[in-house]
Amino acid sequence: MEKNKNIFIETYGCQMNVSDSEAIVGILTSAGYVEVVSPEDADLIIVNTCAVRDSAVSKVKAQICRFKPLRNRKKIRIALAGCLAEHERDSLLKELPIDYVIGPDRYGFLAELEGVGAVQVDADKEESGFYSGFTPVRKKGVNAWIQVMRGCDNFCSYCVVPYVRGRERSKPVKEIFREVEKTVNEGYKEITLLGQNVNSYTDGDLHFHDLLRKLDTIKGLERIMFMTSHPKDLSDSLINCFGELRTLCEYLHLPVQSGSDRILKAMNRGYTSEQYMRTIGKIRKRVPDIALSTDILCGFPGENDEDHSQTLKLVSEVGYDAAFMFIYSKRKGTRAAEMENQIERKVKVARLNDVIKMQMMITKAKNSDCIGNIEEVLVEGISPRDASKITARTRTFKNVILNGTVSDVGSIFKVKITGSTGWALEGEKIICGCCDGF
Ligand code: 5AD
Ligand code: SF4
Repeated sequence: MEKNKNIFIETYGCQMNVSDSEAIVGILTSAGYVEVVSPEDADLIIVNTCAVRDSAVSKVKAQICRFKPLRNRKKIRIALAGCLAEHERDSLLKELPIDYVIGPDRYGFLAELEGVGAVQVDADKEESGFYSGFTPVRKKGVNAWIQVMRGCDNFCSYCVVPYVRGRERSKPVKEIFREVEKTVNEGYKEITLLGQNVNSYTDGDLHFHDLLRKLDTIKGLERIMFMTSHPKDLSDSLINCFGELRTLCEYLHLPVQSGSDRILKAMNRGYTSEQYMRTIGKIRKRVPDIALSTDILCGFPGENDEDHSQTLKLVSEVGYDAAFMFIYSKRKGTRAAEMENQIERKVKVARLNDVIKMQMMITKAKNSDCIGNIEEVLVEGISPRDASKITARTRTFKNVILNGTVSDVGSIFKVKITGSTGWALEGEKIICGCCDGF
């Protein structure tokens, strides 16, 4: 590829992809490229894709086609990166108006791709995929994503991730420590540690809870969050970090996927609903007000009405603060794709709607319960709906809207929660003459 050229990057999918895009921009800027905000101004367009659900794939394919006139008219080249690049590696160059296909562990080669039609894929075992020699170009904000591990060895029967992102690899503690120190020095106050399954993080004898304890000592770091946790690997040592470590926020994302033991077994999740509830009990015993969120998959092959009722029962019993709810999507190459009794779309959608309806009620009730609370918030930005308001996050990852200005962004202060709009909270700064609310 030629140097001193412009790149435009578009990102789909999960936080890992957002973080990978930051790494890609870091790799290419160090090779002389400049990031631009409009595809019209680019010489190279990179589309970082997701393959977890069919809906994400269809969307990204349609979006790529909108760059076709630019590619024809201005000879802009297009690189398709991310999980779809790995999942459909053989057909993409024929099917889409693109020039390069590059899998998630090969971004180190991006600056070296030559010639139209070069394909560079493979969730490669030799590459760590951490791109440690490059500084990621982070979007301005108050939260920095830090990758601590990549890949997944769990092979949940519905999921393409182990196939497209390869085996689990952990970044050494020392490297993470240095990276977090650097981001804190750049002004970030909050970090989110990322990995497909952070609970299986290891560096020699050190585990994820050891990493948290070390990071907790970093001066200037205010908040640590992490995702994603696998319920089967959530250790007591990790649970004990909540409520003890200064920086560790009172928020945990713990995907359950289903409330039915039969379906959990078919999903290869490695826990029963009872074991999951026991883990929730331990966490709540440690920090009663911790906020919990989850992922729910509706319409897995063979799921019947009774299984679905058990999911609704579990959702209601746990009382999650938030949930990400999906209909099961058949993914080529996974074990669930070969299973009999695939569920009709109509039934999957109806079940999804049941879960959404129940979760909406729970979220609203949970948010109403917050009214009157005093919360510590970190201001993230100006409200997109009202320029006289700011948006902020509690340590429980709840969104709070309050009066403020751009100069508040990045500040931490105490607010009184005065209302709830259902999804978000409303609050007022606590003005205390002597201590600024603290
Ligand atoms: N269909 C729908 N949702 C899926 N997820 C993973 N694979 C699939 C699939 N085949 C969901 C799971 C996971 C989240 C990141 O995406 O709920 O936790
Ligand atoms: Fe996919 Fe399961 Fe790994 Fe999560 S733990 S990435 S759902 S295989």
